[in-house]
Amino acid sequence: MTFGSSYPKARKAFENIEEKVRQSYPNTPVRWAYTSKIIRNKLAKEGIDLDSPAEALAKMADQGFTRVAVQSLHIIRGCEYHDLRSVVQGFRFMQNRFDKILIGSPLLNKPASLERVKKVMLENIPEERNPDEAVVFMGHGTHHPSNAFYQAMAYKFQQSDPLVYLGTVEGAPKLQAILADLKKKNVKRIYLLPFMSVAGDHARNDLAGNSKNSWKSILQSKGYQVKTVLKGMAEYDNVVRIWLESLQKSISHFEER
Ligand code: CO
Repeated sequence: MTFGSSYPKARKAFENIEEKVRQSYPNTPVRWAYTSKIIRNKLAKEGIDLDSPAEALAKMADQGFTRVAVQSLHIIRGCEYHDLRSVVQGFRFMQNRFDKILIGSPLLNKPASLERVKKVMLENIPEERNPDEAVVFMGHGTHHPSNAFYQAMAYKFQQSDPLVYLGTVEGAPKLQAILADLKKKNVKRIYLLPFMSVAGDHARNDLAGNSKNSWKSILQSKGYQVKTVLKGMAEYDNVVRIWLESLQKSISHFEER
């Protein structure tokens, strides 16, 4: 279960996840659902039909599935995740639906997961980056209280490397705060990377777009050289492994007697 993306190229991140899931569970049917209605409607106009979580689960119930592991591919426990969880709860309480339906956590969900994600995302920074060059990750951000995960993540990056920042498009930390801090440091080049599961609309426009409001343009206007990396987090195997472990946790409960 993902927010979804309307960019065909961005969706290769989902294909990467599906391939890994199929490798781990070759005999288990895999279904997709997009939590974003806007994305589903957009794709429907292009003739691509994608289920909402409720639709996908209703179909599976009708088709006689008895055990379902729902894996959230969201980054934090924000609005999308909580909506998804109530749908799953609903199915859990419906009679004669599933024997067991479990939901796996998004990427950031407890202190240990912050540490893990920090470690892998530091590994995913392009090798050619020199230690005196900065890295700015762009997260989505939200008005939901779980936005605090982004702030905690930003703090962890800073603790490991004072030139690695995390900002958000719609929440906090804001790019403004990062700019103020960068000013105090002698940085010439900045790597810009999405901290989102796919490199979709936000990555292509708000991060790397040519309009004057994109992060790339703003940083360039301050005199920095900017290198953008348009790769979603779901394209990195070390990140996908974290979601897979969460899925494994759910599936291991199915095996209990
Ligand atoms: Co958005």
